[in-house]
Amino acid sequence: MKHGLEHDRPEDVTEEDLPEGVKLRDHVVDGIREYDQRLPMWWLIILFGVIAYSIVYWVVIDDRRFTGDRHPAFEAKLQAVETARLAGSIDVTNDEMFFQMATNPSFIEAGREHYAAHCAACHGSDLQGGIGFNLVDGEWVHGSTPSEIYVSVADGFPDAGMQAWETLLGQKRTAEVVAYVLSRNPDLLP
Ligand code: HEC
Repeated sequence: MKHGLEHDRPEDVTEEDLPEGVKLRDHVVDGIREYDQRLPMWWLIILFGVIAYSIVYWVVIDDRRFTGDRHPAFEAKLQAVETARLAGSIDVTNDEMFFQMATNPSFIEAGREHYAAHCAACHGSDLQGGIGFNLVDGEWVHGSTPSEIYVSVADGFPDAGMQAWETLLGQKRTAEVVAYVLSRNPDLLP
């Protein structure tokens, strides 16, 4: 049985037997001869396009060596673990803990809400002061360490008109509001 070209031996096939413009390579392997054609343009475009895209993807999108960032999803998980750890071990005499809270977006956000609801009326919506002291001017009459600020907020100054907030808010929310006040005073952070 013959396949394709009418020759017994592949060596006998000549260019004349082939369609217009088709070239043959010289060697014969297992009785098979190969065409020597350029790959079609669409095929080459896909090949080199994919290679180029893989480099762009590796450098720009996937590889974070240039920015030094960790993966955002991983970052978010770390953040959640850290928030849970802080919330589960509130020790209001521990300044270090307040420093961590004051850079933790969950605590800052919670504190910001408590501040707007309970403190802004006297201390101003931007902590600029009013009936109560300015809380961003760097002056701390009753102490500027986180635990001193906590005591100021927790016990209040009943004689001056500021109630004891720990009684109303509880320890966690009071700590959150202190974290928020600290976050607005970067000079107090280490
Ligand atoms: C009814 C008004 C009022 C409200 C509400 C209020 N404060 Fe005050 N706050 C004051 C006054 C007045 C002082 C000054 C006390 C004094 O004369 O020593 C003060 C002082 C402070 C201080 C001490 C500042 C320093 O220089 O040491 C902090 C901190 C503070 N307030 C935080 C808060 C926070 C946080 C809240 C909300 C949970 C809050 N305050 C709610 C009136 C208020």
